[in-house]
Order: sequence, then C-alpha cells, then structure tokens
Amino acid sequence: MSYILAIESSCDDTSAAVMKDSYLLSNVIASQKVHEKYGGVVPELASRAHQQNIVPVVDCALKDANIDKKQLDAIAYTRGPGLLGSLLVGVSFAKSLAQSLNIPLLDVNHLEAHVLSHFIKDENNSPSPSFPFLCLLVSGGNTQLIMVDSPYKMEIIGKTIDDAAGETLDKVAKILSLPYPGGPHIDNLAKKGNKNFLTFSKANMPNYDYSFSGVKTSILYTLRDKLKEEPSFLKDNINDICASVQSCVVDMLLNKMRKAAKDFKIKDIAIAGGVSANSYLREKIIEMGKANSWNVFIPKISYTTDNAAMVGVAGYFKFLKKDFSSLEEVPYTRLQQ
Ligand code: KG4
Repeated sequence: MSYILAIESSCDDTSAAVMKDSYLLSNVIASQKVHEKYGGVVPELASRAHQQNIVPVVDCALKDANIDKKQLDAIAYTRGPGLLGSLLVGVSFAKSLAQSLNIPLLDVNHLEAHVLSHFIKDENNSPSPSFPFLCLLVSGGNTQLIMVDSPYKMEIIGKTIDDAAGETLDKVAKILSLPYPGGPHIDNLAKKGNKNFLTFSKANMPNYDYSFSGVKTSILYTLRDKLKEEPSFLKDNINDICASVQSCVVDMLLNKMRKAAKDFKIKDIAIAGGVSANSYLREKIIEMGKANSWNVFIPKISYTTDNAAMVGVAGYFKFLKKDFSSLEEVPYTRLQQ
C-alpha cells in the first residue's frame, strides 16, 4: 500500500490529490476566476495564481486525506503538455517537496492522465474499461481518438488538425457574448433549444482525424448573415443557436468514434476531458452505445476538467513499475518532444 501526492498545474486550475494506491483520498481544485474578464486564459496571470494557490491547495489535500506529508511514498506531477509558466510552478514544487522528503517523483503526461481518470477508485465503485479500449479525449486544447492498450501503451489514431472541440464551443460562445469558458453555458442553454434550427457545413476528414476550423467559419458566417437580416437574431434565438452548434460538434465527434470502434472491433468506449462533461455528448454516446452494444464509460463530472486525481492514478501506474523521474526532467509545452 502506498500514498501518492499528485499535483496538477498545466493550465488555469491548481489541484492536489492524495491517493492510497488507486483509491482517491482527497482532490482539491482551486480554479482561477481572474481569466474570466479576458475571455481566455492569460498565461502570466495563470502562473502567478498557481504560485499563490499551490501551498494552501497541497496543505488542504493532505488535511482532507488525513495524512501527514511524512507518510507519502511518492509525488506525481503533470510534466506537460500545458502552459510553461503554469507547469513550472507544479514541477518545481513537486521536485522540492520530493527532495525534502527523500521520496521518488513520477512525471505524468496530462493527456494520458485524462484517459486514465477512468481508473480512479472512489466511494462510487464505478467499473473501469477493459483493455484495449477506445477513448475520445475532448478538451479545450485537444481532440483525440486514442486506442488504449494498457496504462503504458496508448496510440493516438485520430486528432484534430486545427482547433479543438472545446475551443470551438468557447469561440462560438464568445460570439454569443456568453462568459468564458463558454462550453458549459452552451450546454445549459441548448437544453431549451431546437438542434435543427440551423445547419452548418462540416469538413469530412480522412480516417479518424477532425477539423473544426471550417465549421467555426461556417457558424460565424451563418450568424453574421442572419444578424444582417435581423439585428436581434442572436438574443432572440440563443437557445436554438446553442443547440444547433452543440449538436453539430457532438455529431462530428461521435461519427469518427463510431467508425473507429467498428473498424477496430472495440466494444469498450470511453470519453474524457473537459468537454466530456457535456450533457448532450453523454446522452448521445449512451444512445450510440445501446445501438452498437458497446460498454460506455463516462467519467464523474469532477474528473472531466483538470484535476490532480487523474494525475495521481496515472502516477500510481508508474509507481507500480518503479518508473520514477529524475530531478533533471523539465516541463514540456506540446505533445511529447
Ligand atoms: O480538460 P479541460 O478542463 O482543460 C483544457 O483543455 O484546458 O477542458 C476545458 C474545456 C473548455 O473548452 C470548456 O468550455 C469545456 O471544456 N467544457 C464543456 C463543458 N464543461 C467544460 N464543454 C461543453 N459542455 C460542458 N458541459
């Protein structure tokens, strides 16, 4: 039995978690409100806020777990991808604490951690997918279809060649004057809207890749033309516009997923990342799962956006293999270099 402290600081959430093996004892997240008024994450402000938050967040996670730092067996941290200034805060903190406690470090890839969030054990006792499984990872910065052979072997079989799904929803929300991040607002308003109100042209990429820049332009032009005819178009039809945009993005995501599941004959299907909190995506994948006899795995809402619990479980898998990282490891901002 081992206690692992996990630290996540890749973007604008400072988070710390304590795991007892793969069982989650505590998961504390300090979100940064400072970015809201800028309509997006300001990297310099994010790293400053991490610097302010990291000590109280870690302290709180240890207290919630009811353990002393001297009981820790290892420290897992997000090494990348992410914003450099943000990552540096978590990485430096993890290294210093590990050195002072003389315990090993576990460096974790943020995207793999999202996928492995399905293996966090907690009071809900939810089942985990069996290997190999297919995971649709959808967040603000990434859209990927990943074949997961084991916790140690994942292959990206498809990805966006331009914008991510979350970024697309956030940009459309900005056009609609909704607060940042716009994804959850679109989700809420869409519940009262008609998804067939507007249609947009979608790019059809080969294989399992995605492209969202074309659909974003199509949404922008459609709304611009409608506004010319009717100045209050956005305000008067906001629910229907949100429902149409959301359904367009979710259809694009799921069409590729269905194709990949069929081609690879995979029955265990999972979603992960911030956009996997979307209620329409959840509803549609459950529906599709029933129609195709898939076992569908949907993460708990608190494990969808950035959190240290997923870093903890990814670190635990590395701990089992004694795959420790050295003090020389530096953060990386893009997908593994
Ligand atoms: O994984 P995540 O927390 O981190 C980054 O990629 O930074 O994902 C954030 C993204 C944002 O684009 C946000 O709008 C989106 O997840 N998101 C949602 C929902 N909740 C968060 N998108 C649609 N519906 C939601 N309910």
